[in-house]
Amino acid sequence: MRILVISDLHSNRQALEAVLAKEGDVDFLAFAGDVVDYGVDPVYAVDFFRSYGGRAAIVRGNHDDHLINVYRSGEWKRVQGEEFKWIHHNCRLLDDERVAFLDSLPYHIQFTADGYDYIIQHQYDDKYGIIESPYAFDNYWNEHWKGERKGTLGRRMIFGHSHRQCEHILQGDRLWLNPGSISYRRPDDPDKSAQYMLIEDGEISFRSCPYDRSVQKAVADSYRADGGMMRTEIQDFMFFFGDAKTSRDPL
Ligand SMILES: [Fe+2]
Ligand SMILES: [Fe+2]
Repeated sequence: MRILVISDLHSNRQALEAVLAKEGDVDFLAFAGDVVDYGVDPVYAVDFFRSYGGRAAIVRGNHDDHLINVYRSGEWKRVQGEEFKWIHHNCRLLDDERVAFLDSLPYHIQFTADGYDYIIQHQYDDKYGIIESPYAFDNYWNEHWKGERKGTLGRRMIFGHSHRQCEHILQGDRLWLNPGSISYRRPDDPDKSAQYMLIEDGEISFRSCPYDRSVQKAVADSYRADGGMMRTEIQDFMFFFGDAKTSRDPL
């Protein structure tokens, strides 16, 4: 079985299209949350998951929760200029139906493939923590796995949120996995590629591919030109999608 594991899309159409074109057909899609925010195409991002025709496990992230709250508060209709953020930009493009879809996504999904049991979710704690001990792994697993185990080869947890590709091997059959973000990096990581993970017949490979960042950069450039967005939000974008070396390079 070929499983494509992606996370933290953040409204980035070009990155997702590049990965789908590179990998072709898969048997199962796993997505670890953060569909929207900090990107220019939330409609594409939501509609991709809403209309995905194959087998999939799609969970929500903290940015999805944030968008749902901001959208329903109506705040995005009033905010302008230096107060304006990507979250408001995304809210303006979405509608009630698409926000309801985001709100229908679960926080955890379990599935079994090729002898391994998986639980997928967005984040472990309210920061960027990972599970450090077999004891904590077992506690978390027992809280979230429902019913009898089906796999015999091992237990795998897939997390997103940190935007850092990693595999954390704990003692025994326990594995922590993060496919990285298909969209953007943390401020100490200059890699601008789309990161993801492919699991083929249980074998894990971490992958990445370049994609066209010019669409994102052009939208940020237009906000920079007319002063229509918070300065730090533009700086972040120039790091994510332009050629800035850090997320706080002067504009
Ligand atoms: Fe994220
Ligand atoms: Fe997140």
